[in-house]
Amino acid sequence: MREGLGLQVFLVCLGMAVCSHASMPQNHAHQRGLSLHRHKERGKEGQVLHRSKRGWVWNQFFVIEEYTGPDPVLVGRLHSDVDTGDGNIKYILSGEGAGTIFVIDDKTGNIHATKTLDREEQAQYTLTAQAVARDTNKPLEPPSEFIVKVQDINDNPPEFLHGPYYASVPEMSNVGTSVMQVTATDADDPTYGNSARLVYSILQGQPYFSVEPQTGIIRTALPNMDREARQEYDVVIQAKDMGGHMGGLSGTTEVKITLTDVNDNPPKFPQSVYTMSVSEDKVPGEEVGRLKAKDPDLGENGLVLYRLIEGDGMNMFEISVDSETQEAVIKLKKPVDFEAKRTYTLRVEASNKFEDPRFNAWGPYKDTATVKIMVEDADEPPAFTSPNYTFEVEENAPNGTVVGRVHARDTDVANSPIRYMILSYTDVDQFFTIDSEKGIIKTTRPLDRETQSWHNISVSAAEIGGSLVRVNIKVKDLNDNAPEFAAQNDVLVCENVAPGKLIETVSAVDKDEMAHRQHFRFSIAPEAANNHNFTLKDNRDSTASIFVTRKGFSRMTQDIYFLPIEINDNGVPPMSSTNTLTIRVCSCDSRDTILSCNVEPFILPAGLSTGALIAILACIVILLGDYTNLFTCFQASY
Ligand SMILES: *[C@@H]1O[C@H](CO)[C@@H](O)[C@H](O)[C@H]1NC(C)=O
Ligand SMILES: *[C@@H]1O[C@H](CO)[C@@H](O)[C@H](O)[C@H]1NC(C)=O
Ligand SMILES: *[C@@H]1O[C@H](CO)[C@@H](O)[C@H](O)[C@H]1NC(C)=O
Ligand SMILES: *[C@@H]1O[C@H](CO)[C@@H](O)[C@H](O)[C@H]1NC(C)=O
Repeated sequence: MREGLGLQVFLVCLGMAVCSHASMPQNHAHQRGLSLHRHKERGKEGQVLHRSKRGWVWNQFFVIEEYTGPDPVLVGRLHSDVDTGDGNIKYILSGEGAGTIFVIDDKTGNIHATKTLDREEQAQYTLTAQAVARDTNKPLEPPSEFIVKVQDINDNPPEFLHGPYYASVPEMSNVGTSVMQVTATDADDPTYGNSARLVYSILQGQPYFSVEPQTGIIRTALPNMDREARQEYDVVIQAKDMGGHMGGLSGTTEVKITLTDVNDNPPKFPQSVYTMSVSEDKVPGEEVGRLKAKDPDLGENGLVLYRLIEGDGMNMFEISVDSETQEAVIKLKKPVDFEAKRTYTLRVEASNKFEDPRFNAWGPYKDTATVKIMVEDADEPPAFTSPNYTFEVEENAPNGTVVGRVHARDTDVANSPIRYMILSYTDVDQFFTIDSEKGIIKTTRPLDRETQSWHNISVSAAEIGGSLVRVNIKVKDLNDNAPEFAAQNDVLVCENVAPGKLIETVSAVDKDEMAHRQHFRFSIAPEAANNHNFTLKDNRDSTASIFVTRKGFSRMTQDIYFLPIEINDNGVPPMSSTNTLTIRVCSCDSRDTILSCNVEPFILPAGLSTGALIAILACIVILLGDYTNLFTCFQASY
């Protein structure tokens, strides 16, 4: 230190924390004794000063952060070579924090920090030192700039800024599978000491997980971790500074780790045998029962397929899956009959839809169960021995004639007695009665086939619910109808008709069913058998010809003749009737054209008989040629 050449700055250690700080690097300690020189006469250093501030790196004071002692911290001391100790020199401090944070004793040059400093707030302060003459204030030295550095202490714990964390890893992962990386930050000076050197450790979550001390990567630590046993883990990771050593600060974070599902479980039936029952009155398609193979895996890993693999019920039942509940649904495929077979057995297989080949070695992804199905007796309605009955009864048969018998059976094991009844609306006129116990149907009165040839009634066989059967009763024909003329026309003859002339051919009809097979015989009724006017010839083909046998018919003496004719059918018993043929005598011209007949008065149009009509038509034909006869013609017709 040369005289008069420099303003010296000392750091004075007064037993404060700053000096005793264990981590204070050695070179810093050296700096504390250095003076702040003006170097202009020390060529080499002077150049350094001139060229760059780097020369001032040495012109640093250090003040430890966060110091909270009773007295202000002595940061250092300014000293000028020209200071002889007589008090004539005044030291002045200016720059960042001068007079507020840093105060100087202008006589001694001692600089104190009056406040607690925080490196993480401001790491250094640039100040200027001056030495002036106390009386004149004239500078005795050029001003010197220097830096007060705030010395880091480990006053910041590591912090996980993004916690808590959420992560997932597949169950059954290999040991060491990376789950996630967590990173803590430390506000302390990373370039100085170990205050920001972090080491990670796991406080909670062992033995399942581990953390890499240097990287914070969390890994699985146990084999075969099973989601179905435990799905969630709360892991606590600690980051500790000072390289993890004693006295370091630490911070923790929570990591919630979820195991995701893999298909490591086959479906499994909780029971080996299931029992169901089905009533025999169920129809195909109806559900019989359900069973479920449990698969604790999630989503499609838990999807189960079911099939019937064997059993005597294979053809009677079918299986499907309820996609909502994952249950197997057994349904009836064909109707079952309690009276025929009372139990069925099915073997049901459950398998996984998606398999993970890694776990095949553990055994098949399948399970089977036996389903026993009991058929239950249903209260079935009585069954008639026939789907319908057709009976015949003779018409005219007396009241009480047996028509037939219906019979129904109770198919149930109980075999309850059955009561028969005719449904009244099918036999409104109550032609029949039924014996309610025996099912025998009888007539209540003679039936007429020609009025109603079929009586189609319904008979119920009652139990609850009952059955119905249709009974068709045909009324058999009897020859109970006499023949009669097929047509009821009057026969017209001319007054001058010649004897032997055929005037009419008559035929007959009969209402009886067999009539078409019958022959009708005709004869003049006995009371007219000996008349001299007409004869009848049976043609033996169910017709007869009528001839006149005399001449000289006159309207004036007799204009109408009634000829009674007997008609016989050949039925059993034979039936006959006498039908009267009405013969009218008309006036004719020479060509046998009818001019007029006497007919009973009639009312047009409904009462107009065929004979009258013919007469009128005859008149009109004539009138076409001779208008003067109009009146005569009408007079004659009425
Ligand atoms: C009676 O039953 C038979 C079947 O056995 C059926 O073919 C027929 O059509 C039925 N008749 C009536 C009138 O219901
Ligand atoms: C049929 O006969 C029974 C007794 O035999 C009698 O009660 C009933 O009134 C008769 N019915 C008719 C319609 O004559
Ligand atoms: C009654 O049944 C018979 C036989 O099935 C049938 O031919 C007839 O047309 C039926 N009659 C009526 C009125 O239903
Ligand atoms: C036959 O003609 C006569 C004379 O006109 C008559 O008295 C008699 O009743 C007639 N007999 C019959 C059956 O027409």
